[in-house]
Amino acid sequence: MRTILQKCTMVGMTEFDVCKLRDYAADLAQQAASLISTKRSEITATGDIRAHSQTKTSAVDPVTEVDTAAEEFVVGSIRKDRPDDGIIGEEGANVPSRSGVSWIVDPIDGTVNFMYGLGEYAVSLGAMVDGQYVAGAVINVVKGTLYSAAVGHGATVTYRDGTSTQLRCRQETDPRLSLIATGFGYTETRRAGQAKILQELLPQVRDIRRIGSAALDLCRVAEGTVDAYYEHGVKVWDVAAGIVIARESGAQVHVPHSWTSDDRGALVWAASAELAPAFERLLASAGAKEVID
Ligand code: IPD
Repeated sequence: MRTILQKCTMVGMTEFDVCKLRDYAADLAQQAASLISTKRSEITATGDIRAHSQTKTSAVDPVTEVDTAAEEFVVGSIRKDRPDDGIIGEEGANVPSRSGVSWIVDPIDGTVNFMYGLGEYAVSLGAMVDGQYVAGAVINVVKGTLYSAAVGHGATVTYRDGTSTQLRCRQETDPRLSLIATGFGYTETRRAGQAKILQELLPQVRDIRRIGSAALDLCRVAEGTVDAYYEHGVKVWDVAAGIVIARESGAQVHVPHSWTSDDRGALVWAASAELAPAFERLLASAGAKEVID
């Protein structure tokens, strides 16, 4: 079986190029984060951000003017800087790739937190080559904490003061002592299914965290501030960058085999290699390995 780096070579990419994708993602994510902060301040200075939002898949699934503006900024930048690359964006961008590279863009992952002023929302930019997740960056917009990774080159967190550290996931082995991040979908039926699983899992783990951004959940697995993450029905833009960051920190990340932007409720989960076998058994015993529509 070919490695991801071998697949990159097949489309003419070197290891150096994979690092360039990571650095490009990191730079662009920082610029988008700055735009989001500025626009949020402008809107909140004169009123409620909810007046600048609409709903998407359900009444509780919002998109704000700032999500749209941030995606337009990111897409415009990629089109200018890397005109042959493809783009898939949460707010509708869909550009086919001529270079073999595609960017998976979530302009604000954690839009509900963004609307309410909770400080856990992020820009997430992932790069894919030949269907493989190869590089990405996620920035916590409020804290300015930037997570980035390139396949084969490790994952790094850079703080607002410029200091940075290599990421290494925690090596807890016992699910009963594990802190587990998860999230919920936007429809009543999916939430009902997710609640049943939660009811099974909660008595069997240290505790559960619902942070509100799948991209940041995966970065938290990478930095060891949670031990594992699982969720049904996330979209590829929620997790494309986080997948590379978590894997490069030593975590195992399991994603659906063929994943399009449709809304099937398949399971995504991540845990350190030490925890993964027992965590997977726990997920299976709670019925979490099934799709939740
Ligand atoms: C959502 C967040 C949330 C997760 C949802 C996602 P959005 O993304 O990642 O944590 O539980 O499944 O849809 O809508 O804020 O971009």
